[in-house]
Amino acid sequence: MSVTVFNPRINDVAAKSTLLVAADESSSVAAPVTTDGNKGVSKKVFIATQGCQMNVYDSDKMLDVLGDSHGMEVTHNIDDADVLLMNTCSIREKAQEKVFSELGRWRKLKEKRPDLVIGVGGCVASQEGDNIQKRAPYVDMVFGPQTLHRLPELYDQSNEQRDIAPKNRIGTIDISFPSIEKFDFLPEPKVDGYKAFVSIMEGCSKYCSFCVVPYTRGEELSRPLDDVLAEIDSLAEQGVREINLLGQNVNGYRGEKDDGSICRFAELLHYVSHVDGVERIRYTTSHPLEFTDDIIDAYAQLPELVSHLHLPVQSGSNAILAAMKRNHTIDVYINQINKLKAVRPDIHLSSDFIIGFPGESDQDFQDTLNLAKELNFDHSYSFIYSKRPGTPAAELPDDVSFSTKKARLAEFQKVIIDSTLAKSHEMVGTTTRVLVEQVANRHPDCLIGTADNTRTVMFKYDVDKMDELLGKIVSVKVTDFVSPHMVKGELVEVLA
Ligand code: SAH
Ligand code: F3S
Repeated sequence: MSVTVFNPRINDVAAKSTLLVAADESSSVAAPVTTDGNKGVSKKVFIATQGCQMNVYDSDKMLDVLGDSHGMEVTHNIDDADVLLMNTCSIREKAQEKVFSELGRWRKLKEKRPDLVIGVGGCVASQEGDNIQKRAPYVDMVFGPQTLHRLPELYDQSNEQRDIAPKNRIGTIDISFPSIEKFDFLPEPKVDGYKAFVSIMEGCSKYCSFCVVPYTRGEELSRPLDDVLAEIDSLAEQGVREINLLGQNVNGYRGEKDDGSICRFAELLHYVSHVDGVERIRYTTSHPLEFTDDIIDAYAQLPELVSHLHLPVQSGSNAILAAMKRNHTIDVYINQINKLKAVRPDIHLSSDFIIGFPGESDQDFQDTLNLAKELNFDHSYSFIYSKRPGTPAAELPDDVSFSTKKARLAEFQKVIIDSTLAKSHEMVGTTTRVLVEQVANRHPDCLIGTADNTRTVMFKYDVDKMDELLGKIVSVKVTDFVSPHMVKGELVEVLA
């Protein structure tokens, strides 16, 4: 017998809406019960996710809890949905404004279908609270990143009070920071691929002067070690080979162990590498201040750690770093990278940059350009500084015109793009480690996977034997450049 089970995956590689699994004949699978008591009629959830990987992970979890509690299924067709959820991002003003323009479109859908339930979660919800319903009175539920596990209750409350205007309902807004309890209420993780995110800590206590995260996600809180390992065990048993540890300040992890002592990030990496089936470990996003020598040692000791590090630096100028309250200098950053290169010569680096921070002089900008050229990043994310209300940097005088900021960003991104291109070309002739993930859509005689440095790698393989290689770590000799993020090659050997 096969049954369709709720599948929470929303990221693009796995944008399938159902997962077919073979169920044991003896197991009984109850028809989903909706809150209206209608057996067999599954409500459908559409979810729009903005922002970081943490939000992608959280969206999965929202779908998990609604699937588990209400038998809801995910849909990728908004016109099919009974519940619309928006998981928002407020890191930059643009992202925040998108929320209200998108909600305007959803209002029109609700006018046609008044039973539609609309929920807004994530960082904008956390920051705006009941203001969301002041600007968008048709929104039924508002919840923050730390209260997504309470979605089923919020949904029930809004259903029960359907005849009352959303803003007058009770118990349909929850943007509190209830410690780390969210994780205790999440169902067992389900997977349908070979890679999975695992959130190990929430929030951030670094308070960089430009950033809203400490205010929207709260202060840092680490999940206990055993909880993290239990989730990874379960994922590995379901076939996951690559774990991506997530946190806003991931290498600041300080999780409690069984005996009450504290497990730091480097030690966690060792534990994860020992989980049967886990062949690759990534993590994001790390802070230079927490990039301690024991983490560098882990690169020397753990082959499972990929040869790629995303370490945001934000600026190449010491004056700007100080104004950003990053609490380190450029020399500290370069020194860390050099130490890492000494133990992992093939390390690929990427970073985040903010261009046009208040007071950024021409020289400051040149320093940032020079740093990018010197370190030759594999790829990077760069944005114009966006003033966020409530953050200390919002009070700083800003004498740099927007047109100057735009010109600087364009100049900077050219350096970054050139370096990404050069890196992909340099791969030709080298051998790279690849996690094989799928048969290429448009080339059925080829398999596709991801290299340590996040490039997509395609190689030919015997069509009848492709299943054998899915989920395996292989080495591939790169033969051709295809695009900045993709190369082609030939299989050398199966590694694991
Ligand atoms: N924890 C990470 C950053 C998380 S936020 C760190 O250690 O830096 C992700 C990225 O968004 C940041 O690295 C920064 O480059 C960008 N960002 C955050 N606030 C911003 C703002 N106000 N304007 C522009 N970019 C911003
Ligand atoms: Fe933001 Fe700085 Fe933390 S960028 S997420 S406050 S490390």
